[in-house]
Amino acid sequence: MNTRYIPALSFKWLTPLYDPLLKWVMREETFKRKLVQQANIQSQMKVLDLGCGTGTLTLMLKRAQPEAQVTGLDGDPQVLAIARDKSHNTNIQWDEGLASSLPYPDSTFDRVVTSLVIHHLVTDDKRRAFKEIFRVLKPHGELHVLDFGAPHSSLTRFMTTYMRRLEETADNFDGLIPLFVAEAGFGGVKEAENFVTVFGPISIIQAVKGV
Ligand SMILES: C[S@@+](CC[C@H](N)C(=O)[O-])C[C@H]1O[C@@H](n2cnc3c(N)ncnc32)[C@H](O)[C@@H]1O
Repeated sequence: MNTRYIPALSFKWLTPLYDPLLKWVMREETFKRKLVQQANIQSQMKVLDLGCGTGTLTLMLKRAQPEAQVTGLDGDPQVLAIARDKSHNTNIQWDEGLASSLPYPDSTFDRVVTSLVIHHLVTDDKRRAFKEIFRVLKPHGELHVLDFGAPHSSLTRFMTTYMRRLEETADNFDGLIPLFVAEAGFGGVKEAENFVTVFGPISIIQAVKGV
């Protein structure tokens, strides 16, 4: 199986710098707030934050709807330890596992939200991850993916010429993520938002199981 595990900032020793970099350089608040808004979480919903990292988005999801059952999953115990620490007594379930074989039964979640994770996966794992997300979502459940996306201007196209060599971003910049999502069985696949960040263009892709 063609797998490769890329930690939050490519190298494990950089993980402690993840939160400050995302907050002050990438200004994560802007696009994560939009993602939470779009996920439109209702009370009693079951929500999975796939590749939750240090848990910033997971906590935002829980704060947006404290009655929802929120789970953060990541493959790296080092980031999960930071997430657990940040969440204090907040009732969030933290699980260790891989995107390509999710440790949940079929039809478990109403929402799967994932931010800046898909570009860490090799092409085959991206496809496997979307199939797994489809499997664990309930019928009519929604997927909300925030990640690097196709450039929409000459400036962002230029930015991607360097960025596409980092991690596994090339599929993202080539606009393949919506195609992989549709291929996994989702309907209503659309790019709902796009943003320009210092690291390149970011998109939010939405899709529904069973439309
Ligand atoms: C750039 S960080 C994003 C963290 C968080 N979602 C955010 O938006 O700040 C990417 C995360 O994906 C996780 N990751 C990478 N490959 C994974 C895989 N195959 N399965 C689960 N998590 C994975 C990494 O451990 C890391 O925490």
